[in-house]
Amino acid sequence: PTINVIEHNGIAHQLSADVGQSVMQAVTFAGISSMSADCGGACACATCHAYLDEAWMDRFPPVQETEDAMLDIVPERRPNSRLSCQLVLTEGMDGLTLHLPAAQF
Ligand code: FES
Repeated sequence: PTINVIEHNGIAHQLSADVGQSVMQAVTFAGISSMSADCGGACACATCHAYLDEAWMDRFPPVQETEDAMLDIVPERRPNSRLSCQLVLTEGMDGLTLHLPAAQF
């Protein structure tokens, strides 16, 4: 799917991602350096934090316990905060939009 990533400074990226890829993988493979994803997708660092566009929130499985605990350490958690390594892209997700926070930790 084609997804939209908007950095905190307003720079917008449109990325071609693969079904089965996590949103974090799509963002980091595209070289967007404001997401460091330090743990490589193990739900153990919270440096893949992103704000998911409200319209897409129920398209992914809900926040699980480990993700919830990690989100508690991010600087500015919001109701639409997710760890993007836990968001796996599926068919029909063209247009998925997320915003990156000012800082990951
Ligand atoms: Fe570390 Fe997502 S990449 S929690």
